[in-house]
Amino acid sequence: MIVTHTIDETRQRRAALGTVALVPTMGALHAGHLSLVRRAKQLADHVAVSIFVNPTQFAPHEDFEKYPRPIESDLAKCRAEGVDLVFNPTVDELYPPAVGAIELSVPELAQTLEGEFRPHFFGGVCRVVAKLLNVVRPDVACFGQKDYQQLRVIEAMTAGLCLPIRIEPCPTVRDDDGLALSSRNAYLDDKQRKRGLSLSMALAEAERAIADGETDPDEVEGAMRRVMATHDVRVDYAAVRHSKTLKPLDLINLALEPVVCLVAAHVDRVRLIDNRVVAAE
Ligand code: PAF
Repeated sequence: MIVTHTIDETRQRRAALGTVALVPTMGALHAGHLSLVRRAKQLADHVAVSIFVNPTQFAPHEDFEKYPRPIESDLAKCRAEGVDLVFNPTVDELYPPAVGAIELSVPELAQTLEGEFRPHFFGGVCRVVAKLLNVVRPDVACFGQKDYQQLRVIEAMTAGLCLPIRIEPCPTVRDDDGLALSSRNAYLDDKQRKRGLSLSMALAEAERAIADGETDPDEVEGAMRRVMATHDVRVDYAAVRHSKTLKPLDLINLALEPVVCLVAAHVDRVRLIDNRVVAAE
């Protein structure tokens, strides 16, 4: 496995490879990331993983400094999965101090939901993903559906910039109890983890309500909020949206369009997100 830290070396190494599938990550790799690597292996001759905790997607009060960085164990996991290339740049390599900031945005998709609560987030994600795609030049890049809005924003950014790169959505991986895997789950103790399960329970409740014929998005959103409230989590949003545009719906009609239910909530100081796409049977 080749490990690179600079853009130049990454480009040279990549040029020697055939088709490449890229899995962009911030490290602290868990089974969810490894499922992306396995999907990537099916899609191209070689798999590249980027490991970079991207400062521009964190607000000053967020957890950039304390975000886990277990680089040795991450590299061991990549090696065990048969990854060909790991790109692990420094902050100065991707954001050279002598070069001023650039801005990229996909306002129609990015200003709602996460964008309301973390206004800096998608600008930072777009900046770093555009850089990573430009450095590695993969044929395909894999992103988890766990970060549903991020996936939609990146699809739109890639199409909008005319990048010849396919974006592959990959299913959310959950623990047996239903908690969506996230590097931030490591911050939860056992009791907090149980409260965190209320996010997936709320989504299950939404799906049940819709399957039972509920067509009013407000009713479904209310049902999700009630589930989370009984577990003492502070809700940022519980939303029923158009699965492609992420716009609010007047009425749920699965025959016309699958909907996506999305939730974000705080278990004490840990912020969790989850979602579920609900489609007609
Ligand atoms: O989903 C993540 O881990 C990050 O947002 C990403 C896409 C690697 C960009 O830093």
